[in-house]
Amino acid sequence: MKDILNSIIRNRRSVYPNQYNGKIISNEVIKEILINANTAPTHRMTQPWFFKVFSGDSKSKLVNEILDLTSDQEMSESVKENLMTKFQLTSHIICICMNRDVKNIIPEWEELAAVSMSVQNMWLTCTAYKLGCYWSSPSVINRLDNFLDLQSNQRCLGFFYIGQYDDLPERNLKRDKIDDKVQWI
Ligand SMILES: Cc1cc2nc3c(=O)[nH]c(=O)nc-3n(C[C@H](O)[C@H](O)[C@H](O)COP(=O)(O)O)c2cc1C
Repeated sequence: MKDILNSIIRNRRSVYPNQYNGKIISNEVIKEILINANTAPTHRMTQPWFFKVFSGDSKSKLVNEILDLTSDQEMSESVKENLMTKFQLTSHIICICMNRDVKNIIPEWEELAAVSMSVQNMWLTCTAYKLGCYWSSPSVINRLDNFLDLQSNQRCLGFFYIGQYDDLPERNLKRDKIDDKVQWI
Protein backbone atom coordinates (compact mmCIF):
# COMPACT_ATOMS: atom_id res chain seq x y z
CA MET A 1 0.00 0.00 0.00
CA LYS A 2 2.81 2.43 0.81
CA ASP A 3 4.26 1.96 -2.68
CA ILE A 4 0.89 2.81 -4.22
CA LEU A 5 0.53 5.89 -2.06
CA ASN A 6 4.08 7.07 -2.78
CA SER A 7 3.47 6.61 -6.48
CA ILE A 8 0.18 8.56 -6.46
CA ILE A 9 1.63 11.42 -4.43
CA ARG A 10 4.83 11.64 -6.47
CA ASN A 11 3.04 11.43 -9.82
CA ARG A 12 0.44 14.07 -8.98
CA ARG A 13 0.73 17.00 -11.30
CA SER A 14 -1.30 19.80 -12.78
CA VAL A 15 -2.91 18.79 -16.06
CA TYR A 16 -4.33 21.78 -17.88
CA PRO A 17 -7.51 21.94 -19.99
CA ASN A 18 -5.63 22.23 -23.29
CA GLN A 19 -4.36 18.72 -22.51
CA TYR A 20 -7.90 17.28 -22.06
CA ASN A 21 -9.69 15.37 -24.82
CA GLY A 22 -13.18 16.75 -24.14
CA LYS A 23 -14.66 13.41 -23.00
CA ILE A 24 -17.20 13.45 -20.19
CA ILE A 25 -16.45 11.84 -16.81
CA SER A 26 -19.37 10.11 -15.07
CA ASN A 27 -20.94 11.84 -12.09
CA GLU A 28 -20.31 8.64 -10.09
CA VAL A 29 -16.56 9.16 -10.43
CA ILE A 30 -16.89 12.85 -9.56
CA LYS A 31 -18.85 11.79 -6.47
CA GLU A 32 -15.97 9.51 -5.38
CA ILE A 33 -13.59 12.45 -5.76
CA LEU A 34 -15.89 14.61 -3.61
CA ILE A 35 -16.26 11.91 -0.95
CA ASN A 36 -12.48 11.91 -0.63
CA ALA A 37 -12.45 15.71 -0.40
CA ASN A 38 -14.86 15.39 2.49
CA THR A 39 -12.45 13.26 4.53
CA ALA A 40 -9.88 16.06 4.88
CA PRO A 41 -8.66 16.88 8.37
CA THR A 42 -10.44 19.80 10.03
CA HIS A 43 -9.69 21.53 13.31
CA ARG A 44 -12.68 21.37 15.67
CA MET A 45 -14.64 19.73 12.86
CA THR A 46 -15.66 23.02 11.26
CA GLN A 47 -15.45 21.22 7.86
CA PRO A 48 -15.12 24.54 6.03
CA TRP A 49 -15.03 23.12 2.46
CA PHE A 50 -18.01 22.97 0.15
CA PHE A 51 -18.25 22.64 -3.59
CA LYS A 52 -20.39 23.70 -6.53
CA VAL A 53 -20.07 21.33 -9.45
CA PHE A 54 -20.55 22.56 -13.02
CA SER A 55 -20.87 20.39 -16.12
CA GLY A 56 -22.79 20.49 -19.39
CA ASP A 57 -25.15 23.48 -19.57
CA SER A 58 -24.23 24.81 -16.13
CA LYS A 59 -20.57 24.90 -17.22
CA SER A 60 -21.58 27.16 -20.13
CA LYS A 61 -23.46 29.41 -17.71
CA LEU A 62 -20.37 29.66 -15.52
CA VAL A 63 -18.05 30.63 -18.37
CA ASN A 64 -20.58 33.19 -19.64
CA GLU A 65 -20.77 34.70 -16.18
CA ILE A 66 -16.97 34.90 -15.98
CA LEU A 67 -16.83 36.61 -19.37
CA ASP A 68 -19.57 39.07 -18.33
CA LEU A 69 -17.66 39.93 -15.16
CA THR A 70 -14.36 40.45 -16.96
CA SER A 71 -13.47 43.72 -18.66
CA ASP A 72 -11.80 43.91 -22.07
CA GLN A 73 -8.74 45.38 -20.37
CA GLU A 74 -8.45 42.34 -18.14
CA MET A 75 -8.92 39.81 -20.91
CA SER A 76 -8.34 40.26 -24.63
CA GLU A 77 -10.73 38.73 -27.16
CA SER A 78 -8.29 35.89 -27.89
CA VAL A 79 -7.87 35.09 -24.19
CA LYS A 80 -11.66 35.00 -23.86
CA GLU A 81 -11.92 32.58 -26.78
CA ASN A 82 -9.18 30.50 -25.22
CA LEU A 83 -11.12 30.36 -21.95
CA MET A 84 -14.22 29.11 -23.78
CA THR A 85 -12.17 26.38 -25.43
CA LYS A 86 -10.74 25.42 -22.04
CA PHE A 87 -14.24 25.10 -20.62
CA GLN A 88 -15.34 22.96 -23.59
CA LEU A 89 -12.44 20.55 -23.11
CA THR A 90 -13.10 20.26 -19.38
CA SER A 91 -15.58 17.66 -18.15
CA HIS A 92 -16.41 19.13 -14.73
CA ILE A 93 -15.45 22.37 -13.03
CA ILE A 94 -15.74 22.36 -9.28
CA CYS A 95 -15.89 25.72 -7.52
CA ILE A 96 -13.84 25.32 -4.36
CA CYS A 97 -15.63 27.19 -1.56
CA MET A 98 -14.91 27.92 2.08
CA ASN A 99 -17.40 28.47 4.83
CA ARG A 100 -15.85 30.68 7.50
CA ASP A 101 -17.08 29.56 10.92
CA VAL A 102 -19.34 32.38 12.14
CA LYS A 103 -18.37 31.77 15.76
CA ASN A 104 -14.72 32.34 14.90
CA ILE A 105 -13.72 29.32 16.94
CA ILE A 106 -10.53 28.82 14.96
CA PRO A 107 -8.36 31.25 12.95
CA GLU A 108 -9.22 31.70 9.27
CA TRP A 109 -5.87 30.30 8.13
CA GLU A 110 -6.79 26.95 9.64
CA GLU A 111 -9.96 26.85 7.57
CA LEU A 112 -8.03 27.80 4.43
CA ALA A 113 -5.61 25.00 5.29
CA ALA A 114 -8.46 22.49 5.74
CA VAL A 115 -10.03 23.44 2.38
CA SER A 116 -6.61 23.11 0.74
CA MET A 117 -6.25 19.63 2.19
CA SER A 118 -9.64 18.69 0.77
CA VAL A 119 -8.43 19.91 -2.64
CA GLN A 120 -5.27 17.82 -2.31
CA ASN A 121 -7.49 14.79 -1.66
CA MET A 122 -9.37 15.52 -4.90
CA TRP A 123 -6.11 16.02 -6.78
CA LEU A 124 -4.65 12.72 -5.56
CA THR A 125 -7.89 10.90 -6.34
CA CYS A 126 -7.81 12.26 -9.88
CA THR A 127 -4.21 11.04 -10.16
CA ALA A 128 -5.28 7.55 -9.09
CA TYR A 129 -8.14 7.58 -11.63
CA LYS A 130 -5.79 8.92 -14.35
CA LEU A 131 -7.84 12.08 -14.73
CA GLY A 132 -6.31 15.45 -15.43
CA CYS A 133 -7.01 18.27 -13.01
CA TYR A 134 -5.67 21.50 -11.60
CA TRP A 135 -6.58 24.32 -9.23
CA SER A 136 -7.07 27.67 -10.92
CA SER A 137 -7.37 30.89 -8.93
CA PRO A 138 -8.09 33.83 -11.28
CA SER A 139 -9.10 37.13 -9.68
CA VAL A 140 -12.66 36.79 -11.03
CA ILE A 141 -13.39 34.25 -8.27
CA ASN A 142 -13.85 37.23 -5.94
CA ARG A 143 -16.72 38.53 -8.09
CA LEU A 144 -18.76 35.36 -8.22
CA ASP A 145 -20.50 35.63 -4.84
CA ASN A 146 -23.93 36.39 -6.32
CA PHE A 147 -23.69 33.85 -9.10
CA LEU A 148 -22.58 31.15 -6.65
CA ASP A 149 -25.10 32.27 -4.06
CA LEU A 150 -22.44 32.69 -1.38
CA GLN A 151 -23.16 34.21 2.04
CA SER A 152 -20.97 36.92 3.57
CA ASN A 153 -18.96 34.33 5.54
CA GLN A 154 -18.32 32.24 2.42
CA ARG A 155 -15.67 32.54 -0.29
CA CYS A 156 -14.82 30.96 -3.59
CA LEU A 157 -11.15 29.94 -3.53
CA GLY A 158 -10.85 28.78 -7.08
CA PHE A 159 -11.89 26.43 -9.83
CA PHE A 160 -10.91 22.79 -9.85
CA TYR A 161 -10.83 21.74 -13.50
CA ILE A 162 -11.18 18.01 -14.23
CA GLY A 163 -10.91 16.35 -17.61
CA GLN A 164 -9.87 13.18 -19.36
CA TYR A 165 -6.63 13.04 -21.33
CA ASP A 166 -5.20 10.59 -23.87
CA ASP A 167 -1.55 11.00 -23.07
CA LEU A 168 0.64 13.51 -21.33
CA PRO A 169 4.00 14.91 -22.35
CA GLU A 170 6.86 14.22 -19.98
CA ARG A 171 7.29 16.92 -17.42
CA ASN A 172 9.40 17.09 -14.38
CA LEU A 173 8.85 20.21 -12.32
CA LYS A 174 11.61 19.64 -9.84
CA ARG A 175 11.21 20.83 -6.28
CA ASP A 176 14.18 22.19 -4.37
CA LYS A 177 15.88 19.45 -2.39
CA ILE A 178 13.99 18.31 0.70
CA ASP A 179 17.31 18.13 2.57
CA ASP A 180 17.63 21.90 2.19
CA LYS A 181 14.21 22.41 3.75
CA VAL A 182 14.52 20.19 6.77
CA GLN A 183 16.45 20.58 9.95
CA TRP A 184 16.84 17.34 11.90
CA ILE A 185 17.07 18.38 15.51
C1 LIG B 1 -3.79 27.46 -4.28
C2 LIG B 1 -3.34 27.19 -5.69
C3 LIG B 1 -3.74 28.04 -6.71
C4 LIG B 1 -3.32 27.79 -8.03
N1 LIG B 1 -3.73 28.66 -9.02
C5 LIG B 1 -3.28 28.46 -10.28
C6 LIG B 1 -3.68 29.34 -11.33
O1 LIG B 1 -4.44 30.28 -11.13
N2 LIG B 1 -3.18 29.10 -12.57
C7 LIG B 1 -2.33 28.05 -12.83
O2 LIG B 1 -1.91 27.89 -13.98
N3 LIG B 1 -1.98 27.17 -11.86
C8 LIG B 1 -2.44 27.36 -10.60
N4 LIG B 1 -2.08 26.47 -9.62
C9 LIG B 1 -1.32 25.26 -9.97
C10 LIG B 1 0.16 25.50 -9.81
O3 LIG B 1 0.62 26.36 -10.81
C11 LIG B 1 0.89 24.15 -9.89
O4 LIG B 1 0.47 23.34 -8.81
C12 LIG B 1 2.41 24.33 -9.86
O5 LIG B 1 2.87 24.86 -11.08
C13 LIG B 1 3.14 23.05 -9.60
O6 LIG B 1 2.84 22.12 -10.61
P1 LIG B 1 2.29 20.68 -10.28
O7 LIG B 1 0.92 20.86 -9.67
O8 LIG B 1 2.20 19.98 -11.60
O9 LIG B 1 3.24 20.01 -9.35
C14 LIG B 1 -2.48 26.69 -8.31
C15 LIG B 1 -2.08 25.84 -7.27
C16 LIG B 1 -2.49 26.08 -5.98
C17 LIG B 1 -2.04 25.16 -4.87
